[in-house]
Amino acid sequence: ASEAQLRAILDTVPDAMVTINENGIVQSFSAAAQQLFGYSPDEVIGKNVAMLMDEPDAQHHDEYLKRYLATGHRHIIGNMRCVNGRRKDGTLFPHELYIGEAISRDSRVFTGFLRDLTKRREAEAKFQELQ
Ligand code: HEM
Repeated sequence: ASEAQLRAILDTVPDAMVTINENGIVQSFSAAAQQLFGYSPDEVIGKNVAMLMDEPDAQHHDEYLKRYLATGHRHIIGNMRCVNGRRKDGTLFPHELYIGEAISRDSRVFTGFLRDLTKRREAEAKFQELQ
């Protein structure tokens, strides 16, 4: 895809979308991801994706990637997971994370799609209260 096509996808994809390389370094950060995390792309691109999560995952994320690259055993790829994200202001929010993998001639990128669950969790709690 051309640069312009990629830009169009990143500007319009409804879920927050983050792509990383094999080393966990952020390559792109969508408009919805900016809204969700409060970071501009400049603040995230070129940095480790671990800045978007909480401990203990942040500390171990490089190992998770290395383990996957070494063994090919998938844990999150292809499966939805509920995890916490960490915003620029430090607050945590639950989200669903889907990870895909795209392998081209000479490189591999991982695509992450994140959906904020805050509203759904709040509605659930309200519903429980009313029972
Ligand atoms: C693996 C957490 C974001 C790519 C993992 C694992 C955890 C985790 C716990 C290991 C799973 C296991 O061994 O059971 C998180 C959290 C995130 C996050 C809390 C919150 C922001 C991302 C994003 C991407 C990504 C945005 C890609 C763009 C990967 C890959 C693996 C992995 C490629 C290894 C493959 C696999 O285990 O299937 N992550 N992650 N992660 N994560 Fe993340």
